Amino acid sequence: MFDHIYPDTIEALEFGFTSDLFEGILWRQGGYIVIASIKSVLPRQGNLSQLFRNIREKGLGIKVTNPSPIMTMICQKKGFVLTHGPVEPGICDDIVDIYVKKMESKTVE
Ligand SMILES: CC(C)(COP(=O)(O)OP(=O)(O)OC[C@H]1O[C@@H](n2cnc3c(N)ncnc32)[C@H](O)[C@@H]1OP(=O)(O)O)[C@@H](O)C(=O)NCCC(=O)NCCS
Repeated sequence: MFDHIYPDTIEALEFGFTSDLFEGILWRQGGYIVIASIKSVLPRQGNLSQLFRNIREKGLGIKVTNPSPIMTMICQKKGFVLTHGPVEPGICDDIVDIYVKKMESKTVE
């Protein structure tokens, strides 16, 4: 099971994941932040891109699970690699698309 990160909590504030910008939750899976279902409150103002940068600046990778068509397009544009895996192991084992941006190489995986 993944650790859930809700907007405005201490963990969320590390990444700027706040309820004025996003609805939904993030998950923590080892050295990755998993994005499964979020919505931008103010779309197309760069807030998702900033969230990605904030996560990577913490030395973490990003996984986007079962993305919507817009999110798929964004992941492809930003060089995420397409893999496949369960939505949330042990909770929902359906195999879906997962776009992965590895953590910076200086960090041990
Ligand atoms: C997908 C979503 C979260 C993106 O959030 P956002 O805050 O609008 O994203 P940003 O403004 O940071 O844009 C990120 C990049 O995607 C591009 N982009 C965003 N929305 C786009 C759209 N509808 N069409 C084309 N490009 C788009 C931006 O131009 C930007 O490109 P850049 O990095 O080259 O400048 C938002 O569109 C949304 O909430 N969609 C509805 C719910 C959804 O699909 N959630 C994802 C579930 S996995």
